[in-house]
Amino acid sequence: MTQDIQIISTGAVGAVVANVDLNDVNDSQMQTLQSAFAEHGVLFFRDQNLSPEAHLGFARRWGEINVNRFFAHVDGYPEIAEVAKEPDQEFNIGGNWHTDHSYDQIPALGSMLLAHEVPAVGGDTLFANCSKAYDSLSDGMKATLSTLRAVHSSRHVFGNATGYSDALNGRLGNGDDATQDAVHPVIVKHPLSGLPTLYVNAAFTLRFEGWTDQESKPLLDYLYAHIGRPEHSYRFQWGKGSMAFWDNRATWHWAINDYHGHRRLMHRVTIEGEALGGL
Ligand code: SIN
Repeated sequence: MTQDIQIISTGAVGAVVANVDLNDVNDSQMQTLQSAFAEHGVLFFRDQNLSPEAHLGFARRWGEINVNRFFAHVDGYPEIAEVAKEPDQEFNIGGNWHTDHSYDQIPALGSMLLAHEVPAVGGDTLFANCSKAYDSLSDGMKATLSTLRAVHSSRHVFGNATGYSDALNGRLGNGDDATQDAVHPVIVKHPLSGLPTLYVNAAFTLRFEGWTDQESKPLLDYLYAHIGRPEHSYRFQWGKGSMAFWDNRATWHWAINDYHGHRRLMHRVTIEGEALGGL
């Protein structure tokens, strides 16, 4: 007898989904996954045996695929970005708190990261809940932030002048295409949950609109420290076949770089999102 799909909250952010094979998700299971994704912000799956086609097939059920301009892709699959760190490589992709694509005017909904090769120890990913972080601010801070918008950019990360691609063994390209800038409300109304969510991140946010970088820094630094607090976060340990599917608009993530001398290979498929509005 097949068991019902199970959604088990991991605490501050995310939920583990049990009793589902992502090769074969029926409509009722899909509905359960959609509500769980809106509620928890990240879904974690274990022991999935997915071919690249099946990975893309499951992703397409959530929306159109975003083809990453900057990341190397899996051979023969331009829609699958390869997130890899080799044993002799010092830096990794995503080794700090961030959310992907906030530099786009229409930021991607989220990404499905599937583990193909993981170190025996280390290489975990941290996730943080940006709606919970909003909730735990004071009413005065919430009111101030609700009047602000922030400027985001890809130029200082993916542009040719940064040296980031060299540090990643040339795994990034198209630095000339790093021309995206976007302005989003600092508190967005989350498109799925309807909850107010803090939408700034240290990787891509430059400043508050109409403020200088210097004026913005103290308040941005306060918000970055606040979002990343342990009570807003969760640490996921990968195994081969684990998948995390995160919502870029509700969460942050951080790929911990603590496994030098070992290989870690992940496939990432990103799904297009929608323009973000304020409260
Ligand atoms: C990323 O930031 O997309 C990579 C996350 C990870 O490798 O755990």
